[in-house]
Amino acid sequence: MIEIPQAVRQAALELQRQQPDPLAAYIYDLPALDAHLQRLTGDLPPQVELFYAVKANPDPRILHRVAAAVHGLEIASGGELQLIEPLLDSRPFIFGGPGKLDSDIAAALAAGTDALHVESAGELERLIALAEAAGLVAPVLLRINPRLPERMRTRLTMAGCATAFGIDEEALPGVIARARASRWIKLQGFHIHALSHQLDAERHLSLLDHLLRLSLDLAREHGVELRTLNLGGGIGVNYTDPAHQYDWSRFAAGLHERVQQPALRDIRLRFEMGRYLTAFCGYYLMEVIDLKRNHGEQFAICRGGTHQFRLPPAQGHSHPFVCLPGRGGRPDSQTLHHVRLTVAGQLCTPKDILARQAEVARVAIGDLLAFPLAGAYAWNISHQNFLCHPAPRFHYLEKSLDTPEESR
Ligand SMILES: Cc1ncc(COP(=O)(O)O)c(C=O)c1O
Repeated sequence: MIEIPQAVRQAALELQRQQPDPLAAYIYDLPALDAHLQRLTGDLPPQVELFYAVKANPDPRILHRVAAAVHGLEIASGGELQLIEPLLDSRPFIFGGPGKLDSDIAAALAAGTDALHVESAGELERLIALAEAAGLVAPVLLRINPRLPERMRTRLTMAGCATAFGIDEEALPGVIARARASRWIKLQGFHIHALSHQLDAERHLSLLDHLLRLSLDLAREHGVELRTLNLGGGIGVNYTDPAHQYDWSRFAAGLHERVQQPALRDIRLRFEMGRYLTAFCGYYLMEVIDLKRNHGEQFAICRGGTHQFRLPPAQGHSHPFVCLPGRGGRPDSQTLHHVRLTVAGQLCTPKDILARQAEVARVAIGDLLAFPLAGAYAWNISHQNFLCHPAPRFHYLEKSLDTPEESR
């Protein structure tokens, strides 16, 4: 059972009333975002930091709210650096990701990055040259791609296998030696973003135990003074069974237990979470334009589509939704009862499907389908220009019961 908050429902219907054309829109529930972040940061031990991976949702209004709540921001491009520039007075930032441009590295150094996550031996050489040219010592975490037991993996694994990310354990001794030898590098520790879509807190904690042991061993073996350990992001969102989400309380309790260990007492542990921070505050809305049967399957053709909400095909799931009777509440609207509904958008491709064969008690042309869990990797990962459809509308709830005045 999915709950759509009353404030979101009201705003959705008001947005629909404001325009004659069928509606496609995102609604972001900012008070819910604040409450979620407050809970997450409030549960953490003092030596654990929560950074936000901007790539999950770089919407400036979201970014401002998140930046006010978390310990810092993680960026992975020069574009993201420009975006967070207005926030740099109040929050530290870290710069990771593959394929960094020299110009981006130089800009991050000049902007006073808290740490650069170095992805390879070649990137380290470029960084040394750039730091020397700027006369700035670069704070560095080396990103490791360690061996990882099979049982610790998820369906989106970035480490423990051949990926474009991080430094192979075999190459690591040479890279550490080079970093330690350069006066332009301040090696502060390691970075390991091993996987995404972690839904199980116990499995997550045992992965962390593995990575903590590994990092401590590597530091001891290679003479690295370990000050910061960035253990990545990766907490998942349960899209197909929304009532059962990741057990954050268990995770936070597990962190409290771990930071008591003498070996970890003086090390700052850092996470850079994306999806789990912003997914829950977002809703994508599509208005039903047409209802039709094709080869035995019932379709709803809706305003918008995967060019605005690519998350379902990107994850390969049928996204849950709730049907809100808006214009579709009119007596003359074509209405269906107790159907299995496949939801398609406006694109000329059979891949433009957001939900498949979902059980619906009642649906009518003019109804709004509200997709929850749409606040991360949704609009910003979509192929927005395909077919030249306009962007959806965006509305931000500022109070828990709000009317939609500020839309764009
Ligand atoms: C290096 C790195 N850190 C953090 C994240 C955020 O991951 P998530 O959104 O799963 O928390 C990603 C996502 O791709 C990443 O590549």
